[in-house]
Amino acid sequence: MTRRFADYPATRTRRTRRTPALRALTREERLSCDDLIWPVFVCDGTGVTQEVASMPGVIRRSVDLTVEAAAEAWDAGIPAICLFPYTDPALKTDLCEEAWNPENLSNRAIRAIKAEVPDIAIMTDVALDPYNAQGHDGIVRGGVIVNDESVEALVRMALAQAEAGADILGPSDMMDGRIGAMRAALEEAGHVDVSIMSYAAKYASAFYGPFRDAVGASGALKGDKKTYQLDPANAREGLLGVEMDLAEGADMVMVKPGMPYLDMVTRVKEAFAVPTYAYQVSGEYAMIRAAAGNGWIDGERVMMESLMAFRRAGCDGVLTYFAPEAARLIRAG
Ligand code: PBG
Repeated sequence: MTRRFADYPATRTRRTRRTPALRALTREERLSCDDLIWPVFVCDGTGVTQEVASMPGVIRRSVDLTVEAAAEAWDAGIPAICLFPYTDPALKTDLCEEAWNPENLSNRAIRAIKAEVPDIAIMTDVALDPYNAQGHDGIVRGGVIVNDESVEALVRMALAQAEAGADILGPSDMMDGRIGAMRAALEEAGHVDVSIMSYAAKYASAFYGPFRDAVGASGALKGDKKTYQLDPANAREGLLGVEMDLAEGADMVMVKPGMPYLDMVTRVKEAFAVPTYAYQVSGEYAMIRAAAGNGWIDGERVMMESLMAFRRAGCDGVLTYFAPEAARLIRAG
């Protein structure tokens, strides 16, 4: 590489770090409320909130309170909310029929939010795990997560979400061919403007533990998700997944988890230059909260630093449970 800098002392890197004004002038990245997508957990009932033990500060809300939360998020400058339902275990079956019930919790929440807070973008989760008696993201037959039958079910689920008014579908299931199948079905049904943010590089990660408690999936899950989620050792395979999802019609792509996989964000952004997102997942949130709660780190500063790191890596946005708190701090300047 050609040298662009003179040697010390002609170059003193500390000159531009000397004052807040100079640091502001030379800052390369900015974190704005526009970068935030807020994942929320929805439960049954009215006026109900439930704490999630493994995610201090995160609550499940009934639909009415989710609508209020969406309104507050929109007022705080957060452009998008992502819904995850806590499904009654009695509704979980092996064929996951509740997933495409137009009246399921998620679809009711979409309609209720659209009616009251029409401007906020609503993102969904397309995966069968909340509805699956087996706890997996796809249909299980003889101990195998069957791909093509799962894709058919996921397409039904996606169509029901689009019908309810979702703006962005978030397939997190990692079945092969699901993006193409969803895109074709959406076109066919006239939902030509519904976006897909594919969980394109989603790793088989232990960082999802607290989430599975939050949606009540940990009890049902038998085994692990390694036959469909990526091996944490694999970067090249992650890029292949992104390329395939884009070819099949994804509008935006996601890397997940976030902080331990920032290298993938940078590689994806450099290779494809498409809207790229990361999910700062439940385990990442829980670690920061736990350390902050014990007084071991400064929670606010670590939160903001972690979110800035996503920007620096190349993210156009981040799914983060910190969204409301981060928005408040960004607004306060
Ligand atoms: C499953 C799904 C998961 C998350 C989002 N969608 C968990 C999993 O794959 O087991 C994890 C999110 C988080 O940990 O915050 N469809």
